Amino acid sequence: MLLEGKKALIFGLANNRSIAYGIAQALAAHGARLAFNYVGEAIKKRVEPISQELGGEFTFPCDVCDDAQIQAAADLAREKWGELDILVHSVAFANREDLNGRFVDTSRDGFRLALEVSAYSLAALCRAFEPMLHEGSSVMTMTYHGSTKIVQGYNVMGVAKAALEASVRYLAYDLGPKGIRVNALSAGPVKTLAASAVSSLKDIFTHVEAHAPLRRNITTADVGGAAVFLASDLSHAITGEVIYVDSGMSQIGVVG
Ligand SMILES: NC(=O)c1ccc[n+]([C@@H]2O[C@H](COP(=O)([O-])OP(=O)(O)OC[C@H]3O[C@@H](n4cnc5c(N)ncnc54)[C@H](O)[C@@H]3O)[C@@H](O)[C@H]2O)c1
Repeated sequence: MLLEGKKALIFGLANNRSIAYGIAQALAAHGARLAFNYVGEAIKKRVEPISQELGGEFTFPCDVCDDAQIQAAADLAREKWGELDILVHSVAFANREDLNGRFVDTSRDGFRLALEVSAYSLAALCRAFEPMLHEGSSVMTMTYHGSTKIVQGYNVMGVAKAALEASVRYLAYDLGPKGIRVNALSAGPVKTLAASAVSSLKDIFTHVEAHAPLRRNITTADVGGAAVFLASDLSHAITGEVIYVDSGMSQIGVVG
């Protein structure tokens, strides 16, 4: 198995439709050991049974906006595992009103919140977990094509994903001398809790099915497969990259 005994901390599991769920399933199928964060009691109730189902070893509270919670998570993981091989960041948030109107109307607070939860948190996690990461460890985050192209209704989240992808490159540079890799997976649209805030989602699904080279939408298992590759030694020399898992949709210019 590609990931036999590797220890993977997964941030961003909300339910069994989460991209983090597809990733966790795939990592576990390849032999990885898992642990999950949760934010608040409602998510905890959903995460704990899923963690049990997937053989997770522990769960822990961690709001990525709270440095004390991040440090507590790092301390707990160090106590339980010592070292960390895989860190999955599958976390994003923006106020619904900032995804519905015009980007020009985004409030200062809405902008700050979206960028803090969805982009800054990756640097915050890397900093806190760096002492546990080692030669061969892999950090990965989830992004979307709205970072580089206009996607109606994606608005401030597109700006946050642009910041996230730039963060991936700078973090790859900072952590690279230790042999730690940092990459992003750019997933096509998937029906999840977070995605339901994007008002144009239904149209995007239809568009992908009609025009993507593979003529189908992706699944969380598709993202899981790419995550296994990024987590494994097969991708030993890949860092600072954004790898698309989108049925080829991002390669399309104009098709009829
Ligand atoms: N669903 C899609 O179409 C799609 C496409 C490309 C990228 N993504 C990205 O994938 C990632 C996972 O999203 P998803 O679609 O699986 O939705 P999801 O709702 O299942 O997961 C989002 C997660 O973010 C967590 N989160 C939000 N605020 C947080 C905070 N302050 N601290 C800690 N965790 C917090 C939530 O608890 C949840 O677990 C996100 O980065 C999202 O932008 C999603």
